[in-house]
Amino acid sequence: MKRINVGIIGTGWCGGIRAETCAVSPFVEELHIAEIKEDRLQEVAVKTKSATATVDYRVLLANKSIDAIMISTTPETTHYPMAKESLQAGKHVLLEKPIALELEEADELIHLARSRNLLFTIGYSQRFNPKFAYVKRSIEDGTIGQPVSALVSRHITRNLGKKIGGRIKLSPAAMEATHDIDFVLWCFEPRKPIRVYCQEVSKIMKPTHNVPDCAWIVVTLDDGAVFTIGAGWVLPPAYPNFASTWVEMVGTDGAIMVDDSHRDVYVSTMSRGIEFPISTMPGEKVGHVYAGPMEAETIHFLECVALGRQPLVTAEHARMVMRVYRAADLSAEEGRPIDIHWPAAPADVSTVRSAR
Ligand SMILES: NC(=O)c1ccc[n+]([C@@H]2O[C@H](COP(=O)([O-])OP(=O)(O)OC[C@H]3O[C@@H](n4cnc5c(N)ncnc54)[C@H](O)[C@@H]3O)[C@@H](O)[C@H]2O)c1
Repeated sequence: MKRINVGIIGTGWCGGIRAETCAVSPFVEELHIAEIKEDRLQEVAVKTKSATATVDYRVLLANKSIDAIMISTTPETTHYPMAKESLQAGKHVLLEKPIALELEEADELIHLARSRNLLFTIGYSQRFNPKFAYVKRSIEDGTIGQPVSALVSRHITRNLGKKIGGRIKLSPAAMEATHDIDFVLWCFEPRKPIRVYCQEVSKIMKPTHNVPDCAWIVVTLDDGAVFTIGAGWVLPPAYPNFASTWVEMVGTDGAIMVDDSHRDVYVSTMSRGIEFPISTMPGEKVGHVYAGPMEAETIHFLECVALGRQPLVTAEHARMVMRVYRAADLSAEEGRPIDIHWPAAPADVSTVRSAR
């Protein structure tokens, strides 16, 4: 097996998880990290025993021995330029969502990756949540028949809403519902989204952070199926990093209900009151095990680079997700449903001939 050298740009919350995962992976020969906050750079370098640590990410891109780059930076304006430079430097890339801020930027990245034969995937970590994987499998193996409709209701704590809203004016659709749009479109593959209606509510966060509190989105697919995603970030801050999700997937022959509200473990202390641990979206290390999806997602990418496999999340799919949340933003702004048009599939010559 070929061991690979990996670089991580931005070792904050998610980048820190990815760095710690790489540090103990048998797929990884050397780990290199870049982070502009020097104290955090030092902390992660010591924890992961990284081969190098720098405040200048371009040092990683210039290092010819590095095979793959993971980009976990904020603000999200950094994603497109860093991914572009990484691909231009010949690196395979795992980029945290969102793929870019503009569709044209996403197109450019997809084209760059394709033309250079590089792996390019987006961090839709929820696909690596075993409960979500179970839903996907139950559709693939026919357990619930053909999917008919779906609902995902996701709420996160106000602490995270403020963190996200404090750095960039991206909507709950673009930053939060995006995970569930990705997931449901993956389940409904190969159906395509053709109409999006969205309503936002702005009662709490607008004056302080200039972002809505939540968004409710209805998406129509090209076979008439419909799904709804609700995404909010104003749960009270009493439960640090608490994320609560409920999923209903209804098919022609059955249905799956998923409770991912993380109420199964709680700790109560004299000093901090009640807390819900292991309830974040990326997850966290708990002693010798990892609870949550980001470790598995990181290992999957390492495997793909080391073994030459295609990552589960394609950049083309991420682009389709982007079209849906952009349509949701426009719908909320204009108060009307937005149609999404897809280029007609090229005519199948054999079908046309036999039909004559
Ligand atoms: N998949 C998930 O479950 C999930 C969860 C949270 C966040 N995210 C995504 O991951 C990304 C990171 O989020 P986070 O919460 O870890 O953010 P964070 O703010 O905790 O970390 C980002 C880090 O990037 C660093 N950085 C910024 N510019 C840099 C540069 N030029 N060079 C090197 N480092 C630089 C910052 O100093 C910071 O430490 C976001 O884009 C977010 O959308 C995904």
